[in-house]
Amino acid sequence: MIAPRILGLVRSLLSGLNVGKIRFVYPYGVAEQHHAPVKQRAERSFSSTQMLQDAPGESSSADQVTVHFINRDGERLTATAKEGESLLQVVVNQNLAIDGFGACEGTLACSTCHLIFEKDTFQKLGAVSDEELDMLDLAYGLTETSRLGCQVCIKKSMDGLTARVPVDVSDVRRQLEVGKQSKQ
Ligand code: FES
Repeated sequence: MIAPRILGLVRSLLSGLNVGKIRFVYPYGVAEQHHAPVKQRAERSFSSTQMLQDAPGESSSADQVTVHFINRDGERLTATAKEGESLLQVVVNQNLAIDGFGACEGTLACSTCHLIFEKDTFQKLGAVSDEELDMLDLAYGLTETSRLGCQVCIKKSMDGLTARVPVDVSDVRRQLEVGKQSKQ
């Protein structure tokens, strides 16, 4: 085949120029893969294309996951989410009527996105960061299966998950403001 010969020539040229290793892609697959700055740049531009492909209305139903929220009044809210979205994004993008949810817009500063999960589901949610744990400590009604919705990203394995919104919510930013004012 001609392609492998061309590949050999390009490799020789690049090694002469000390450019490092890059990914060669044939129409029928990946020939070689190594980590190098050149490859990273190529991947970045590819991922922006992927984002365009994931624009609303263009994602396939295979990427979609169904999630349920039990609101404070017991109402069940069902939404369709995409893999990679946070539960906060699901609530905001689909205008779910959960009062005061996500007040700090996912910057880990409020704990208003506190959600409680069933034990089985909780185990699928992935690792908790120290920053999330610190903020959870300040949430009302903390349980062993509590997480912050802005830190939980949807995975395919979460299809059908149910998250309960705790009855009481605390906006840590308000507590801090009140604390400052009472000192003055
Ligand atoms: Fe504020 Fe999650 S939205 S901590």
